[in-house]
Amino acid sequence: MKSLASIVLAAGKGTRMKSGLIKVLHPVAGLPMISWPVTAARDAGSDPIVLVIGHQANAVQGAFRGAADIRCAMQEEQLGTGHAVACALDALSGFRGTVLILCGDTPLLRPETLKNLLAFHLDNSAAVTVLTALMDDPYGYGRIVRDASGRVSRIVEQKDADPEEQEIREINSGIYCMDSDFLFSNINGIGNDNAQGEYYLTDLLALAVRKELTCLALQAVDADEIMGVNDRAQLARAGRILRRRINREHMLNGVTLIDPDHTYIDHGVTIGCDTTIHPGCRIEGGTVIGDGCLIDGNVSISGCRIGDDCHIKAASVLEESELGENVAIGPMAHLRPGTTLGSGVKIGNFVETKKIVMGAGSKASHLTYLGDAEIGRDVNIGCGTITCNYDGVNKHRTVIGDDVFIGSDVQLVAPVTVGRNSLVAAGTTVTTDVPPDSLAISRVPQVNKEGWRLKKKP
Ligand code: UD1
Ligand code: CA
Repeated sequence: MKSLASIVLAAGKGTRMKSGLIKVLHPVAGLPMISWPVTAARDAGSDPIVLVIGHQANAVQGAFRGAADIRCAMQEEQLGTGHAVACALDALSGFRGTVLILCGDTPLLRPETLKNLLAFHLDNSAAVTVLTALMDDPYGYGRIVRDASGRVSRIVEQKDADPEEQEIREINSGIYCMDSDFLFSNINGIGNDNAQGEYYLTDLLALAVRKELTCLALQAVDADEIMGVNDRAQLARAGRILRRRINREHMLNGVTLIDPDHTYIDHGVTIGCDTTIHPGCRIEGGTVIGDGCLIDGNVSISGCRIGDDCHIKAASVLEESELGENVAIGPMAHLRPGTTLGSGVKIGNFVETKKIVMGAGSKASHLTYLGDAEIGRDVNIGCGTITCNYDGVNKHRTVIGDDVFIGSDVQLVAPVTVGRNSLVAAGTTVTTDVPPDSLAISRVPQVNKEGWRLKKKP
């Protein structure tokens, strides 16, 4: 295969986002916007990929830290797309082959489309090929001007177009394929004599035509794909389209989504077959869900590994936790980071966990807080149990052995250990270790004062 490099333009701020964060770092379906076109370029076979950065350069660079194929080129002042590409060429010195040019704000672009563009460009030995689309409302885009025989002659920007040119519905996607020799030797030939006083990359096409080099346009099959995100309304629209693609893939892999339009699954989530997901769920952070699970409505899962046949009941929140098989959670439970649950564990309603390990078959069915604890197998945690793990300065651990029964409304003042097969009576405050096979009970003996209420009545 011929060598392929990409340039991704991302120096602009994205003023219309009205955001403190640069446009290309806004997340879309779980990835910073710019990661989508970068991934498409990579999947199409590009190496290296040069990012042209300017505004918030460190943040953009940081999003790709450790990626060996990424190089960054600084554009200190944003003098136009042509100037931006010129800034990238130092980072490509010595490179010969084909250069793809993309924008960082087109998250819907697919690698297949880039591959088609590349094949079309190479098959026709073109100097430059632009990806175009037919738009019902082309306003704002550069228009593709063709000559009488239908050949591309130039691109005219909205602000420079005369009324007749404004009628043209074929628009410039801002995505191009160029021969590196053509690009390197002509990029400095473009001027800035136009309505915006900018160096327009699009002027390279007219330049190629003037030099009688092959200059082509390929229409994208799906106009959505080249949509550039400029404001938050378009951001939402792009997110919706990406999620639809992601959800469709899960469904084709055997996952039932009761209402895919209201299921929010990010890029990078894995879900086993015969798992059913009800509406309103948000699943993100590289979560892995096994086969045959049932996830009720309005559940939020981030960075978790969930085994087969689990049931996550409505409105539960699961963060960075690990669940074995056949675990039941919720409704309205909160697993905070560092929760590890063995097979068959049950965590019921209004239970909160944090940094705990709970052995197979153990249960905490209602209204409980378990933090910084190591809990054995087949333990029953009664309603209202609290691990008092924090003394105001430090966190302390609670250890509960196998087969322990903790009655309702128990406080375990950590650090404390309850030995295996012991029973802690309801209402007990455990402040010292409980040996194995014992009963722990701490209650003030009950006093009944008969008639007391009658004497108090006026
Ligand atoms: C550009 C095209 C237009 C096309 C449209 C597609 C030009 C002159 N026009 O217009 O024909 O229809 O894209 O969306 O190329 N950028 C830089 N440095 C700069 C200027 C821009 O890095 O100096 C980056 C921006 O951050 C952005 C991309 O280039 O990612 C496109 O720039 P933008 O100003 O949005 O160009 P458009 O006016 O949309
Ligand atoms: Ca734009």
